[in-house]
Amino acid sequence: MKRHSAAKNLLSILLLCSLVLFATSALAAKLSVDDCSKCHSQEPQQIADAGAAHKKEINCIDCHNGHRPVSQNNVPACAQCHEGSDHYTLANCLACHNPHQPLNVVLDGELKAECLTCHTEQNAQLVAAPSAHTEVSCNFCHADTHGNIPACTECHDVHSSDMTQNDCATCHAAHAPTLLEYPDTTQNIMCAACHDMAFSQLQASQTKHHDVACVMCHADKHKVVPQCSDCHGMPHAAGIHAKFPQCGECHNTAHDLNNLK
Ligand code: HEC
Ligand code: HEC
Ligand code: HEC
Ligand code: HEC
Ligand code: HEC
Ligand code: HEC
Ligand code: HEC
Ligand code: HEC
Ligand code: HEC
Ligand code: HEC
Ligand code: HEC
Ligand code: HEC
Repeated sequence: MKRHSAAKNLLSILLLCSLVLFATSALAAKLSVDDCSKCHSQEPQQIADAGAAHKKEINCIDCHNGHRPVSQNNVPACAQCHEGSDHYTLANCLACHNPHQPLNVVLDGELKAECLTCHTEQNAQLVAAPSAHTEVSCNFCHADTHGNIPACTECHDVHSSDMTQNDCATCHAAHAPTLLEYPDTTQNIMCAACHDMAFSQLQASQTKHHDVACVMCHADKHKVVPQCSDCHGMPHAAGIHAKFPQCGECHNTAHDLNNLK
């Protein structure tokens, strides 16, 4: 009797097990993409709002190709589908990407090497012309959202009230701010921010230098100082130049030429 009931118990356990297995495999087999939202709300919502290619080109089941209790770990590795570029060798994809809204990238911490998997040009500039900007991370400036471009004036004052954010790029490149190269269209008033004396002398001058732009003489790059003869050659009799080698002995300075007429 005892033996018989034990066998019966075993039989019913086996039966139960196979029923459970059948039920779960049936559930697993039956689960369709439309079922997911019956029990999960957040992920389907995120995919609907911002799934990008993960919405258009694939669906839940392409990534989660199983479900508990049959499959305990149904979370895919990104490398399953993304391979073959430097970017895909980064350590922690999920630190920046939520797979359900893959393009809403989060930029936390200090990032540079990560950015360099796609942008190399800017870092080449930062390295070629070392400055305080070389020392900070990329997202120190390009913060919060990918592609964000800050105004210089978020961190720096203008040199004078004649200047706005739009003028900074005249003399500074963001990734090489100490190069200080400027075009020949640069207005005198920009230089006046720091060279009030030169500016006001030239403004007051009654000579033809009044109409010559700062950057015609101090061309292309900050602190370039020309010789008078670069533009005028040696205009007087050789004897005069031999006796008075400095033009300034008769003409004073470029900003404040003596009016000899
Ligand atoms: C009948 C309800 C139900 C349905 C339908 C359902 N899930 Fe789940 N899912 C759950 C439950 C319950 C958990 C466990 C949640 C927990 O432990 O916090 C879960 C967990 C998960 C997890 C987390 C990983 C894990 O194993 O814990 C993923 C991923 C998942 N489901 C994806 C899906 C996808 C994709 C679909 C549609 C194909 C789907 N689910 C359909 C109830 C469901
Ligand atoms: C591109 C692949 C991909 C697609 C498509 C995708 N998921 Fe996920 N899902 C993941 C990854 C990866 C995780 C693990 C995220 C983590 O650990 O932060 C995850 C996590 C989950 C979780 C568990 C969340 C938690 O907090 O544990 C659920 C539930 C889930 N996904 C449901 C879905 C549903 C439903 C869909 C379709 C509407 C879907 N997923 C589409 C890759 C995907
Ligand atoms: C089942 C395959 C699959 C998995 C797993 C997968 N992806 Fe994708 N993902 C795609 C496809 C397909 C595209 C569109 C083509 C492409 O860009 O390669 C895509 C595109 C993307 C895009 C660009 C979206 C757009 O619309 O331009 C990002 C970002 C992305 N995936 C991140 C991830 C991350 C992070 C993971 C891991 C959490 C992951 N993917 C896992 C298939 C997958
Ligand atoms: C430091 C943050 C960060 C990390 C970590 C990161 N990504 Fe990205 N990923 C980005 C940014 C930013 C983009 C550009 C998004 C855009 O174009 O709007 C991007 C774009 C993508 C794209 C679409 C464009 C392309 O060039 O393929 C895919 C796919 C992708 N990442 C997958 C991954 C995978 C897989 C990992 C892990 C191996 C990963 N990402 C790790 C920030 C990150
Ligand atoms: C997966 C490749 C990828 C990664 C990683 C990536 N970017 Fe981008 N980034 C792009 C693409 C693609 C664009 C849009 C095309 C363009 O303007 O060059 C872009 C655009 C930008 C722009 C705006 C350009 C403009 O003219 O409006 C900035 C700024 C930027 N990225 C900074 C960063 C920073 C900082 C990081 C690191 C935190 C980073 N990116 C990581 C691919 C990437
Ligand atoms: C997110 C803040 C931030 C932004 C935006 C920013 N800078 Fe800077 N910059 C700094 C910091 C920090 C330093 C180093 C400390 C200082 O000089 O104030 C610096 C230093 C400089 C220096 C001196 C560099 C050196 O090595 O001596 C110049 C020039 C400069 N910035 C110009 C600019 C210009 C022009 C822009 C816009 C294209 C800009 N900055 C945008 C933060 C910023
Ligand atoms: C001090 C702030 C600062 C730092 C640090 C910085 N950038 Fe920029 N970046 C800017 C500014 C400002 C612009 C806009 C430049 C313009 O309008 O000429 C810019 C423009 C860009 C652009 C748009 C294309 C271009 O070259 O104009 C990309 C891409 C970019 N930065 C990537 C990076 C990467 C990658 C790093 C790190 C290696 C980085 N930036 C570091 C301030 C910064
Ligand atoms: C006409 C050219 C010119 C313009 C326009 C210009 N700068 Fe400068 N900037 C300079 C020069 C030259 C220096 C170097 C001064 C020195 O050697 O001490 C400098 C230095 C700086 C410095 C380093 C710290 C300091 O004050 O000496 C910062 C920061 C700076 N500029 C930010 C800006 C910002 C922000 C703008 C736009 C509002 C801007 N600059 C517009 C020429 C210019
Ligand atoms: C942000 C302030 C700033 C701006 C703007 C600025 N400078 Fe300067 N400049 C300086 C400083 C500081 C010096 C160094 C002064 C010294 O050494 O006594 C200097 C020096 C010079 C010198 C002298 C170099 C030498 O060897 O004596 C010239 C020439 C000059 N600047 C021209 C210009 C011109 C032209 C502009 C406009 C395109 C300009 N600066 C804009 C700050 C500035
Ligand atoms: C970048 C070129 C350049 C440099 C450098 C330069 N000048 Fe001139 N100078 C000019 C131009 C342009 C005129 C106007 C010529 C005209 O309109 O006929 C001029 C005119 C003059 C005149 C005539 C003024 C008048 O009102 O009739 C004198 C004198 C003169 N320069 C002296 C000098 C002296 C001295 C120096 C050096 C301290 C010097 N220049 C440096 C370009 C320059
Ligand atoms: C016609 C050419 C010419 C023009 C225009 C000119 N400079 Fe000069 N500048 C010179 C020469 C040449 C020197 C060297 C000293 C001398 O001989 O006058 C000089 C010297 C300087 C210096 C060195 C210190 C000093 O004051 O002697 C600064 C700063 C300067 N110029 C700034 C400017 C600024 C700012 C402007 C425009 C407002 C300007 N210059 C316009 C030719 C010019
Ligand atoms: C001994 C005094 C003296 C010296 C030194 C001198 N000049 Fe003159 N320069 C003059 C006088 C005086 C005039 C006015 C002549 C006139 O207008 O007829 C003049 C006129 C000029 C003119 C204007 C010519 C015109 O046709 O309008 C230029 C340009 C000039 N000088 C450049 C220079 C240069 C460059 C040097 C140095 C290499 C120099 N000068 C040295 C006395 C001098």
